Amino acid sequence: MTDAKKFDPKKRKKLNNPIRLEWIPPALVWSLINPGTGSTFVDIGAGTGYLTNKIGLLAGPAIEIHALDIEPLMIAEMRQTLPAESTIIPQLMEKDRLPFADNSIDGIWLITLFHELEPPEPLLAEIHRVLRPGCRMLIVDWEKDTAACEQGPPFAHRIAADTALQTVTAAGFADVRQVPGFHFHYGILAQA
Ligand SMILES: C[S@@+](CC[C@H](N)C(=O)[O-])C[C@H]1O[C@@H](n2cnc3c(N)ncnc32)[C@H](O)[C@@H]1O
Repeated sequence: MTDAKKFDPKKRKKLNNPIRLEWIPPALVWSLINPGTGSTFVDIGAGTGYLTNKIGLLAGPAIEIHALDIEPLMIAEMRQTLPAESTIIPQLMEKDRLPFADNSIDGIWLITLFHELEPPEPLLAEIHRVLRPGCRMLIVDWEKDTAACEQGPPFAHRIAADTALQTVTAAGFADVRQVPGFHFHYGILAQA
């Protein structure tokens, strides 16, 4: 296990590029992750919180969103830059450990984190543990095919959508499927 694929926090301003809102529409993420009446959500590997904030604006102030990252610099950045009225909760996490009780979370998303997980199985098991039965996980990550965007991580670091589907299915999730609507990225939706 290495940190070779981990995003370099010195490059964090790249995450705030508005073009990403077209590639990964926050409204699509929110509609996929919250089809019902959930109230407590988690963004794992939230980075600067740029997308988390946009999703939080759509969710509204009654919804609690925990923005987790293993990188202290990202947590500090979120605390400095999230709007004062934001209800998003930045939270440092330990690798592969989610600071929540079993069956306590209504939805979890991971945006451009999956390809950095070496290996992904321990975090997937934690996600399965904390999600309420029937609640959803959404993975959005970089397409690996050669027509995909050249921005983003090296092609060798990317995980193909088929491989991600198989890994999530093997981790015990139900109704695992690829969802359309992301550009240069794929979406994988699954239920605990
Ligand atoms: C490419 S950035 C994406 C940030 C954000 N999701 C976005 O799309 O704007 C990946 C983030 O995941 C964090 N990260 C890397 N490995 C992690 C892990 N095992 N658990 C939680 N966060 C992790 C990194 O520190 C980084 O902030």
